Amino acid sequence: MNFNKKRILITGAAGFIGSNLTDSLLEEGAEVIGIDNLFSGSLENLERAFKNKKFEFHKGDIRDLNFLLDIFKDIDIVYHQAAFTSVPQSVKMPENCNDVNVNGVLNVLNAARRMNVDKVIYASSSAVYGDTPTLPKREDMRRIPISPYGVAKLACEAYMQAYHHVYGLKTISLRYFNVFGPRQRDSPYSGVIAIWLGNIIRNEDLIIFGDGKISRDFTYIKDVIQANLLAAEHNAAGEIINIGAGSPITLTDLATLMLKIVKKENLKIIYSDPRPGDILHSYADISKALDLIHFKPEYDQERGLSDYFKWYSNRYNIDLKK
Ligand code: UD1
Repeated sequence: MNFNKKRILITGAAGFIGSNLTDSLLEEGAEVIGIDNLFSGSLENLERAFKNKKFEFHKGDIRDLNFLLDIFKDIDIVYHQAAFTSVPQSVKMPENCNDVNVNGVLNVLNAARRMNVDKVIYASSSAVYGDTPTLPKREDMRRIPISPYGVAKLACEAYMQAYHHVYGLKTISLRYFNVFGPRQRDSPYSGVIAIWLGNIIRNEDLIIFGDGKISRDFTYIKDVIQANLLAAEHNAAGEIINIGAGSPITLTDLATLMLKIVKKENLKIIYSDPRPGDILHSYADISKALDLIHFKPEYDQERGLSDYFKWYSNRYNIDLKK
């Protein structure tokens, strides 16, 4: 797609995925309007974007419909990335998770419809599948989420589809499978790779919740950004599409691989109690993504981790092997 004449709005623009998407779309020549309440996102992630004249930022909350209606002017595409992202936190505060994720999506959809946005591309999650035994996960399988987070994401996908069917708004939900990479925060409620990278930098042991056999289809951010650009380019609408690496790894193998890459095999892997709400295995069938939007991941976990670690070392001037 020629993004040159497009006005694109990104919710959660100061977050991990939103800020990477912002940079890529600016590189493609789009005008980008970023919004974020800066609850978990950070303006530091937008340093590069702020240098670009085609970028504008508004601090505000997706739960505030009037704020959205003010900003959604002459927008071609909305990328809805703002979210309550943590499974364990959703177990602690299900109402908050529902408020941000479900009410937030409804507001974004209502604003998009009223302001004649052409397309809404939504960041959904593999958490919607729950623990059904069949692997890899295909989009047409039963979804039985087991955490409040998974339930909220499933409701949001259903809203995306309903708004397409009832109002003709073009919507696509991309079901992300454990995205990792530059700008993911190292906080207790962040993704496991960012947490373990923080442990490695501080020379701390890595903690695995459960027996280490849990597996995830960790997907590198650059592939996820590629999928988002492709979703804008192709005509698919009213669809739900898995976006994964298509190569799962167990937590024990992941921890071992991370320690090997940074040559810190002296650090230990410690096994602790399982985390409530965690699904056991997650692995994407990505054939629909190939068919509908021609998505092909370029990074397996090892390549993604190496790229991420290189970025981290340069950005913070740290030798990870020390
Ligand atoms: C992640 C995302 C979620 C997304 C989903 C699917 C985050 C915070 N969560 O959820 O937004 O929708 O993928 O794309 O980015 N673990 C450890 N040790 C730790 C931390 C975690 O063993 O120190 C384990 C967890 O118990 C879990 C696995 O690692 O079994 C993955 O956890 P996490 O990275 O939080 O991801 P998901 O819960 O799968």
